[in-house]
Amino acid sequence: MPPITSALQILTLFSICLPLANSIGFNYPAVFNFGDSNSDTGGLVAGVAEPLNPPHGQIYFQNPSGRFCDGRLIIDFLMDAMDLPFLNSYLDSIGAPSFRKGCNFAAAGSTILRATASSVSPFSFAIQVAQFLRFKARVLELQAKTKKIRKYLPEEDYFEKGLYMFDIGQNDLAGAFYSKSYDQILVLIPTILSEFETGIQELYHQGARNFWIHNTGPLGCLTQNIAKFGTDPSKLDELGCVSLHNQASKLLNLQLHALCKKLQGQYLDANVTYVDIFTIKSNLIANYSRYGFEHPIMACCGHGGPPLNYNSRVACGRTKVVNGSVVTAKGCKDSTEYVSWDGIHYTEAANQYVSSQILTGKYSDPPFSDNMPFLLKLKF
Ligand SMILES: *[C@@H]1O[C@H](CO)[C@@H](O)[C@H](O)[C@H]1NC(C)=O
Ligand SMILES: *[C@@H]1O[C@H](CO)[C@@H](O)[C@H](O)[C@H]1NC(C)=O
Ligand SMILES: *[C@@H]1O[C@H](CO)[C@@H](O)[C@H](O)[C@H]1NC(C)=O
Repeated sequence: MPPITSALQILTLFSICLPLANSIGFNYPAVFNFGDSNSDTGGLVAGVAEPLNPPHGQIYFQNPSGRFCDGRLIIDFLMDAMDLPFLNSYLDSIGAPSFRKGCNFAAAGSTILRATASSVSPFSFAIQVAQFLRFKARVLELQAKTKKIRKYLPEEDYFEKGLYMFDIGQNDLAGAFYSKSYDQILVLIPTILSEFETGIQELYHQGARNFWIHNTGPLGCLTQNIAKFGTDPSKLDELGCVSLHNQASKLLNLQLHALCKKLQGQYLDANVTYVDIFTIKSNLIANYSRYGFEHPIMACCGHGGPPLNYNSRVACGRTKVVNGSVVTAKGCKDSTEYVSWDGIHYTEAANQYVSSQILTGKYSDPPFSDNMPFLLKLKF
């Protein structure tokens, strides 16, 4: 082997083991977000006109804010850290919302793969991307026509300089477990990611240059999945999470990470950041007491009491007749003690913890340095 090759190999090895921390400035004029309930700030509620009831929003917004949470989501904390206002939903037209600093296309229940008649959300990833294209076209058209509404809309160059965030794919896996075998789900993963790549390519061709991609969390640790698929203890791992669900999440994430690497190599004039939410959330669930939580799995807002306080027939804040008796899924006394808000979504306290970990820069590829001034803004 010629010496030059081994020198190169050593260099390559070195850069794999010691990735240089990028100092991402976070000077983005706007954010365009795509996703599901993890980052939905009102899309599904506006789009399908099915309201959320209290106690949603109780800890921060004081009323249901369109978020499946007692308060703020990860995206809200990230916007705050970037000194940008909370994102308004593309679908929410009431009250002349400002889209100056960005727009949120996320809708709860959305999948990467096309929605079917039984989907919770019709706004799957390709639709969200199409909505973005219309948004951009309309903004450019209006910017050229009238100065009056300029302050509510992004400037033309925000589309290139803005940050494009993604948190989607969890529902593709979660839904598949209801009708498919594990082997069939594994076969489906490349199809899911190929559809995701198509959307990313479309946005790149439209001028997007900064991509921020969250991987999927430990699906098997969601109360909903433990209640449905974890009744047999042999199906659970040492954390009490459904093993196969978490294995599927890990496999999706491996392939998503590989896709991000491929895009990093392909789009030399762009930034593609992959963020490992799975590791952050697993650590939170495993070591919850160290981070100030008392309940890693049991839902705060639900019905049925310990150990899960989850009833798939009664969603948080709803009242229903179950087995002849009236049942309400109520909130717990102190949601800051809980990781799980409603059995499917995380509490604001958990979201704040996850955000603080994202902002250390240690869980992204490429990593970024953690000595940025905006970190001081995130009190934790
Ligand atoms: C990528 O990120 C770096 C560091 O924040 C920034 O200087 C650069 O402008 C970004 N590239 C693009 C294409 O926006
Ligand atoms: C929990 O914390 C221990 C000690 O820091 C760590 O080794 C372990 O990886 C954590 N668990 C998870 C699932 O991250
Ligand atoms: C309803 O009653 C049946 C029969 O008593 C019982 O098996 C089932 O668990 C009950 N369902 C709920 C949601 O309480």
